Amino acid sequence: MLNWYQTEKRLTISGNKEEQNMLNGKKVLFSGMQATGNLTLGNYLGALKNWVTLSDEYECFYSVVDMHSITVRQDPATLRKRARALYTLYIAAGLDPEKNCIYYQSHVSGHAELMWILNCFTYMGELNRMTQFKDKAAKHADNINAGLFTYPVLMAADILLYQTDVVPVGIDQMQHLEITRDIAERFNNIYGDVFTIPEAFVGKVGAKIMSLQDPEKKMSKSDENPNASIYLMDDPDTIVRKVKRAVTDSEGVILYRDEQPGVKNLLNIYCACSGKTPEDAVKEFGGRGYGDLKTAVAEEVVSVLKPLQGRVAQLEKEKSYLDSMIKNNAEKAQYFANKTLRKVQKKVGFPERPR
Ligand code: TRP
Repeated sequence: MLNWYQTEKRLTISGNKEEQNMLNGKKVLFSGMQATGNLTLGNYLGALKNWVTLSDEYECFYSVVDMHSITVRQDPATLRKRARALYTLYIAAGLDPEKNCIYYQSHVSGHAELMWILNCFTYMGELNRMTQFKDKAAKHADNINAGLFTYPVLMAADILLYQTDVVPVGIDQMQHLEITRDIAERFNNIYGDVFTIPEAFVGKVGAKIMSLQDPEKKMSKSDENPNASIYLMDDPDTIVRKVKRAVTDSEGVILYRDEQPGVKNLLNIYCACSGKTPEDAVKEFGGRGYGDLKTAVAEEVVSVLKPLQGRVAQLEKEKSYLDSMIKNNAEKAQYFANKTLRKVQKKVGFPERPR
């Protein structure tokens, strides 16, 4: 099999300055997910599912950010297994690995190399202000390591390595995107236009799915209560049970409004799975009880997750296909990463590599 760079459709970075960041005439999109915890329905409906629609318009890089994961202590075998599961899930969700560069962060050495340089352009005070660092430091008081502190700089390296134009991220990562922009602008001010300044992706935003147990909180893969989240690999019985137990209220009417966060969340899940609008759903359930709504929600969720799980099971059998995608995409990512990295190394004064 040919490597991606041996094929005719070889990607190019245009040398033209205005188009510097265009790959194959498209803007670059980068996003990443951690393989820690079990991915939830929220991750799928809020992110993955929507990414699938972007690959025609953007040159997409999707990374399994395993280097970020070790800022918190991990069991090695579990991390490796989960990273592979996430890689598989990206593809099962519909991201074609021949069109989208799906790769493991740890396979591309440029991330760590650029991070070191960017560390030298990032201030302690800036990193001290990161709310995620404060939260995680509080949560892992016995292991406040330097990696946890410089986590945002690695994220900046991820994004800037590929001359990224847009980054689809949740609100919780906005502060990290801001610091990425600040670091890039600081560097550009000293050395000229080296980095593209990335923007948060504001397109069709995915549904924000809340916890089933506390609908004021986002559904999270790190929630301690397993009933709060529907995991992508949950079987139908588990899904039905979790939805049945979802917290609602004592209003007894099915309306789509902030005063009824539990019901609103169920309607959001229902709509995101079925493609219906909240107005239609409210009409459909008018005069009916919460039990009916929950039955319908569980059915819709099962009808979305069952085929997804089927595709995962199928892909798991195609080991050599997955392995070749992992290899090709790591090479592809490394190729583009190195273009930026060499430029940056030259700018800061590292000696040229003799050929
Ligand atoms: N920190 C992100 C998260 O936990 C994951 C991530 C790492 C990321 N690098 C990224 C997201 C670059 C977007 C772009 O959600």
